[in-house]
Amino acid sequence: MYRVLIIDDEENLVNVMKINFEKKKYQVKTAYNGKSGLKEFSKFKPHCVLTDLKMPDITGIEVLKEVKKIDFDVPVILITAYGSVESAVNAVKVGAYDFISKPFDFEILHKMVKEAIDMYLIVRNEKSYLSSEIERAFPGVVGKNRKMKEIFDIISEISGSAANILLTGQSGTGKDLVARTIHYVSKRKSGPFIVINCAAVPEDLLEAELFGYERGAFTGAMTEKPGLFEVANGGTVFLDEISEMSPKLQAKLLNAVQNREIRRVGGVKSIKIDVRFIASTNKDIEEEVAEKRFREDLYYRLNVIRINLPPLKQRKEDIPLLSSFFMKKFSLKNSKKIKGISPEALSKLMNYEYPGNVRELENIIEKGVIMEKGDYLGDETLQISLTSHSSPDSEESVGENMVKVRCLLPIENGFEHLNFMQEDAEKEIILRALALHPEMSNQEISEFLGTNRRILELRMKKHNISKKDIKG
Ligand SMILES: Nc1ncnc2c1ncn2[C@@H]1O[C@H](COP(=O)(O)OP(=O)(O)OP(=O)(O)O)[C@@H](O)[C@H]1O
Ligand SMILES: [Mg+2]
Repeated sequence: MYRVLIIDDEENLVNVMKINFEKKKYQVKTAYNGKSGLKEFSKFKPHCVLTDLKMPDITGIEVLKEVKKIDFDVPVILITAYGSVESAVNAVKVGAYDFISKPFDFEILHKMVKEAIDMYLIVRNEKSYLSSEIERAFPGVVGKNRKMKEIFDIISEISGSAANILLTGQSGTGKDLVARTIHYVSKRKSGPFIVINCAAVPEDLLEAELFGYERGAFTGAMTEKPGLFEVANGGTVFLDEISEMSPKLQAKLLNAVQNREIRRVGGVKSIKIDVRFIASTNKDIEEEVAEKRFREDLYYRLNVIRINLPPLKQRKEDIPLLSSFFMKKFSLKNSKKIKGISPEALSKLMNYEYPGNVRELENIIEKGVIMEKGDYLGDETLQISLTSHSSPDSEESVGENMVKVRCLLPIENGFEHLNFMQEDAEKEIILRALALHPEMSNQEISEFLGTNRRILELRMKKHNISKKDIKG
């Protein structure tokens, strides 16, 4: 149960908020002035603080500063009266999570609080990958994006089979990591996991390496030597960068993959092998096949189970988890005592494009951790690593499953119009989800959007959205 502390001198408003939050199963404590609020803070240890800006004794800004001294990470949301926007903006500059102007819709406030607490738990690593189902299944693989979860499901489902797997995805998306994970959660885990980088080894050498050779097979073959396919018996062979393999070896590999049988170089007898093949490529393999650079029959033999890893910019919701995971990893490795990632740094990380995918994010965090002198990984430290790359705000940086809300609001009284912006965003998100998944029921769409069916249907009604009008 999450704890929320509300500090405001308007007793009625405080009580209404308390009732509303309690309905949503929060534990709530209230205070009617700043000083008693701070006392309560130390005892209650809330996950989120809501404080009025103007109060009779001390201001919300002072409350904020004191709270930050006790726990830097805990989010503080300022409640402001209409017209005090300027001081609210200043409050955000000195570390408030956000602010909301009176009068406000409780649902909007609740959403803000929910997000703030989520972020807080991620930064503190409490709601970490360690506690999730996924992480328990696969140590070291992080992700909560829908496509990633589907991949995790596949990995579990195939643990008992020996079916071949083709891994595709851009460089740095985690193909290597997934290949290892598949092996280590499979029934073959006690057998060897052999990695063969098909691009790195010259053709003749690769042939001898993979298939082994008999004595006298070629000059220099003084003794017989089993190949890696034999060595891998009972385990998994990972053929990295398979599209780089020469046509001659592709033909030989086909026989091995098809019949689970190999013949050593210079040998006559066939040797049975019991291995699972996992092949990977960051090229468009279907195009390689169409262009006749890759054998079609081999492609079909390998492509029994297909796992395509999405680029990081299409799964931005994984960035906070991955960042916090890498932050911990490199803090440990470099004996640093970094406690968390600042919200500004996280926002900077969220807005970047990552042409190098997860590997690039990992490198950025590693450099940041090494350079950071404070307790928290700050945006300025990250700036150094990020500036060398291109335009974080460009159109492409918004992944296909992200909605960018362009806001054309008058600046004058701009804050009064913020609600409209939220409405617009809400409508856009629903429309996009429906267009993306025409096959899904309202129940499934609501789960996809992270809400429930009742709310989805109410919102669809409000925005006049009917499923009939949407083309997939
Ligand atoms: N989901 C993930 N969770 C945690 N770490 C990840 C994840 N995906 C990738 N990584 C890390 O990112 C780095 C790059 O991943 P990996 O080497 O598996 O990419 P790849 O797709 O094989 O890239 P390439 O095509 O360049 O060989 C590795 O250090 C890996 O551990
Ligand atoms: Mg790789």
